[in-house]
Amino acid sequence: MRTHYCTELGKDDIGKEVTVVGWANSYRDHGGIIFIDLRDKTGLLQLVCDPADSKEAHKVANDVRDEYVLVAKGKVRARGEGLENPKLKTGAIEIIVDELIIENRSAPLPFVLGDKNVNEEIKLKYRYLDLRDEEAFNVFKLRSKVAIAARNSLDEMGFLDVETPILTKSTPEGARDYLVPSRVHPGEFYALPQSPQLFKQLLMVAGFDRYFQIAKCFRDEDLRADRQPEFTQIDVEMSFCDQEDVITVAEKLLKDMFSAAGFEIQTPFNRISYKEAMERYGSDKPDLRYDLGMVDVIDIFAKCKNEIFSNIAKDPKKNRIKALKVPEGDNIFSKREMKGFEDYVRKFGAAGLGYFQMKEDGLKGPLTKFFEEEELQAIIDRTELKVGDVVFFGAGEKKLVLDYMGRFRIFLAEHEKMNLIDKDRFEFVWVVDFPMFEVEDGKVKALHHPFTMPKNLDVDDVEEIESVAYDIVLNGVELGGGSIRIHKEEIQERVFKLLGISDEEAKEKFGFLLDALKFGAPPHGGFAIGFDRLIMLLTKKDSIRDVIAFPKTQKASCLLTEAPSEVALEQLRELNIRLREMNK
Ligand code: AMO
Repeated sequence: MRTHYCTELGKDDIGKEVTVVGWANSYRDHGGIIFIDLRDKTGLLQLVCDPADSKEAHKVANDVRDEYVLVAKGKVRARGEGLENPKLKTGAIEIIVDELIIENRSAPLPFVLGDKNVNEEIKLKYRYLDLRDEEAFNVFKLRSKVAIAARNSLDEMGFLDVETPILTKSTPEGARDYLVPSRVHPGEFYALPQSPQLFKQLLMVAGFDRYFQIAKCFRDEDLRADRQPEFTQIDVEMSFCDQEDVITVAEKLLKDMFSAAGFEIQTPFNRISYKEAMERYGSDKPDLRYDLGMVDVIDIFAKCKNEIFSNIAKDPKKNRIKALKVPEGDNIFSKREMKGFEDYVRKFGAAGLGYFQMKEDGLKGPLTKFFEEEELQAIIDRTELKVGDVVFFGAGEKKLVLDYMGRFRIFLAEHEKMNLIDKDRFEFVWVVDFPMFEVEDGKVKALHHPFTMPKNLDVDDVEEIESVAYDIVLNGVELGGGSIRIHKEEIQERVFKLLGISDEEAKEKFGFLLDALKFGAPPHGGFAIGFDRLIMLLTKKDSIRDVIAFPKTQKASCLLTEAPSEVALEQLRELNIRLREMNK
């Protein structure tokens, strides 16, 4: 219907007859002449409806209201002197309208487009209106560009785009499955894939050599700002490779995607072992835009005269005493603020938070009385304290201390008085050498997934077994992860055993994979990048909901379609499902 998009027109087009279409972004009546800002996906263009030019068009313009859909025919002319709008791409011109058609009317909008203060629920209910806003639309322009760059990059590297089933069997990424009842097989269910993990491994057994897919994944888990029940992965698998080969592919892919978004990033990325990440930053996804690392001081505290600390220090395998130095902290924070930080860590289970201030005449603080001069000096040396610094201590059970001190580190970096985070920086890091297993409430669990290749299964303590697994972390967000897989049946069976998965259960759940491993499975490995998270970081949004066209709420519902919803009894009957009475 159009001859031009709104912002394609400029001074060079003055005098041309054009047809433009779009929505009435706003309209003003100035002394009988009606001005309409017409909006399409490219931006705004001013229409002028002057009865002196066209009585008809002016009459129609009188009826125009916000968000009416318009078709306007007319001539491009220069705006009068002093009337140019430098803020608009088309600010030097306007269209003198001689024919105006109202193609459709619009009810008054439930909120002003682009208004940041609108309740998110309203915006999600009318998501199609929310997406009319330019800023929201730009996110999807970028998302599309980056997805295409990913496809091209992987195509160039010889990867084949293969689709895998959505109606499938449970896959073990650790979350709950979404289940779909089968009508044809009463009482049986499909599971939606938590990832294409097992299928991509089967494609390697098939000899496809290099696979990728921009894949939808489904996980029924507690939602957070960076988690949705359905999300998208850029999923990759390759054969006859080691960790280095996979990392090289992932880095090239990320470089190409960032480049498509206008950012040139440097590869190779830094690497850190899981152990070091946990011990130094209290997290397996450390934000390395700033350092603020922790050091171990448990050996020094072992000699202190406070029983709480010396008792904790008796078991350095189970416990940790960690020091977190804040350079200039004594000059930045008041004593009251430092004491107040204790309330923050208590929320995460800390018993307390000790601190020392480095003054001209040595260490000061409530804890100094428990230490000899020599130990105080050891703390100064270990944490490399300078006058004006402050050092905080967390002491207790290892997992707890690493967790709350890790959170405290982020809390400090984000504190308005510290302001350590450069929001324009992209700091990638590979976290490598993950443990194969973790033990929770006495139960052995796979840290990545049970198909990850262990480095050595013969170690006595299962928690000491490492795996060939790696995560890519960007600015403190887990962007992706992967591993070299087990390609030998006997190793896979041993891992299942360590996980307490019986032969029958393994056969029932993953029999098809174990079978496939019998028929000449090549060595293989891969990774998956959380595509929504990547776009969230690229566009500096706080939530992945902003980068998903039709996202779900924290409670996994879609406010727009009102899914999930009840279904007709007849449908349930067909599926052989009867609902239990529920207390609503
Ligand atoms: P993993 O489970 O680590 O690995 O997932 C890979 C990446 O997917 C993203 N992600 C999510 N994004 C949004 N919402 C969610 N609920 C969500 N869950 C995960 C994260 C994460 O790093 N099959 C393996 C990959 C492999 O080993 O090749 C897998 O799925 O960015």
